Order: sequence, then structure tokens, then C-alpha cells
Amino acid sequence: MSAYPIPPRVYPTMRPNQVLSMLGTVVSLFHNFPVLVRSTNELVERHIAYGVELAHYDLFFTLLPKVLQAELGDRWDAATASAWKRVGVLVCTMAKGVYSKVAANAPPTLE
Ligand code: HEM
Repeated sequence: MSAYPIPPRVYPTMRPNQVLSMLGTVVSLFHNFPVLVRSTNELVERHIAYGVELAHYDLFFTLLPKVLQAELGDRWDAATASAWKRVGVLVCTMAKGVYSKVAANAPPTLE
């Protein structure tokens, strides 16, 4: 089993600029919760088609603050850390909802 939990078919295609730009969109929608929920749910649905698994979101939001902290240096503070934690909890919670809904609607397997 691979020591890297993201399957090779998934990680070579990730584009950091797209991800950060979309995260910016997610943050800018915080004042418009209905649109935020719809956009995030649609994003997660598209990611299911890309082969992204639910556990990858927790991993992503564990690594992202570390990368941002390393990049931002002194500009990373407790308030920034707390804000990113809340973004992570929100997106991971929405992702869990979408994966549960998709699993509930999936046709039964023959196993
Ligand atoms: C909140 C977290 C994330 C955001 C905001 C994000 C954003 C994006 C965006 C904007 C795209 C472009 C295509 C589209 O809009 O559907 C994309 C594609 C993709 N993302 Fe993410 N992503 C996130 C998390 C992840 C995670 C956790 C993985 C898996 C490790 C992942 C893997 C991919 C892959 C494989 C593609 C398709 C790339 C391609 O073939 O063009 N993403 N993502």
C-alpha cells in the first residue's frame, strides 16, 4: 500500500492556482451563505468525478495551513490560523454531506 494517501491518478493533475483561486471564491462568498453552500456542493460533486475521496479533504486542510504559514511568515497569526480552521471545518462538513448523499443514491454492488 502506498505511503501517500492520495492516489497517483489524482495528485499529478492538481493545479495549485485553481485551488487557491477557488478557495478565495469560497471565502468571498461567506456573506452569501446559500450561494456558498451551492458552489461548494457542486465543487465537491465535480471532485468525486475526479477520483477525490472524502479523506483527502481532511488531509488537504491539515496541510494547507502549514503551507500558508511557511509562505506568509510573520503575516500568519492566530486570527488567520483560526479563520482557515473554520474554512476547513466548513468545507469538510459540506464534503461529508455530499459524499453521504452520493453513497446513499449509489446503486447496490454485486459483492
Ligand atoms: C476546498 C478544497 C479544494 C478546492 C477549493 C479545489 C478547487 C479546484 C478547482 C477550482 C478545480 C478546477 C476544476 C473545477 O472547478 O471543477 C479543481 C480540480 C481538481 N482538484 Fe481540487 N480543490 C480542492 C480540493 C481538492 C482535493 C482535496 C483534491 C485531492 C487531493 C483535489 C483534486 C483535484 C483534481 C484531481 C482536479 C482535476 C484537475 C484536472 O484534471 O484538471 N482537489 N480543484
